Amino acid sequence: MTLQELRTQFIAQLTPLYGEEEATTFFYWLTEAFLEMRRVDVAIAFSQELTSIEEERFNDATAKLLQYIPIQYIVGKTSFYGLEFNVNEHVLIPRPETEELVDWIIKDVRKQSNQEIKILDIGTGSGCIAISLANELPQATVSGIDVSEQALTTARVNAKENNVEVKFIQQDILNTEGIETYDIIVSNPPYVRDLEKEEIKQNVLAHEPHLALFVADDNALIFYRKITALAKESLTKEGSLYFEINQYLGKETKEMIEAKGFEKVSLKKDFFGNHRMIKATLK
Ligand SMILES: C[S@@+](CC[C@H](N)C(=O)[O-])C[C@H]1O[C@@H](n2cnc3c(N)ncnc32)[C@H](O)[C@@H]1O
Repeated sequence: MTLQELRTQFIAQLTPLYGEEEATTFFYWLTEAFLEMRRVDVAIAFSQELTSIEEERFNDATAKLLQYIPIQYIVGKTSFYGLEFNVNEHVLIPRPETEELVDWIIKDVRKQSNQEIKILDIGTGSGCIAISLANELPQATVSGIDVSEQALTTARVNAKENNVEVKFIQQDILNTEGIETYDIIVSNPPYVRDLEKEEIKQNVLAHEPHLALFVADDNALIFYRKITALAKESLTKEGSLYFEINQYLGKETKEMIEAKGFEKVSLKKDFFGNHRMIKATLK
């Protein structure tokens, strides 16, 4: 089979589920991952014959995409804040809105000074937040906590492959009584309520770790309350707490943080205009 024939067949099979544009994007994602060929390379090699192993890899990926397995899990990689991260079923696929949170922190730190700082990322998953901060802020000593040992195994590999030092700790934050002192605490904890499951795409619902995503409808802020209480006791005087938040719970989250004694609490909108981030400082 030639590359052109493969392309025609692949797009025809996936268009009914994903639409032609996304099916085409997936095709080139796979040519890059499996054949190291970008779109321009494919265009000039349309008549190239594939080996049977290559054909099998595409057939296998097609079958997985037909089961709504996210393409990032199929190729095992995704990019985040300019770095490459390994991803698998034990870690959430990093999202663009989380890049905006990371960007906010980096810009704030750069505005302040070059002094050494300590950062903690709670619910680190693939390590995308912790590793990106360590990469961008050489003055920072960064740690990441997650309850999932399997997620931490992936995070450790990601730190090594991106040549940064991050200390990863297995810990259940909901059962943690106290933490060390930090200048910045950041968290993108589970925040999707069970009632919001209907809004979630099938590929997320069926394949991404529920431990990373869901909270009970009647206790949606459970992680935010606990982390805010820990941060209140352990942030340095000038320190800041940053959260990615549920876009429907901005007001409640802000009020809860204020009630716990934080003086300045600011909500920030993401690229799509939804309240998705909060920064809180003690003074
Ligand atoms: C929304 S994901 C965020 C992953 C990553 N930080 C990101 O932004 O892509 C939440 C993470 O919190 C972790 N988690 C869930 N319950 C936890 C707990 N009780 N203590 C610590 N981490 C927990 C999950 O394993 C998951 O990796």
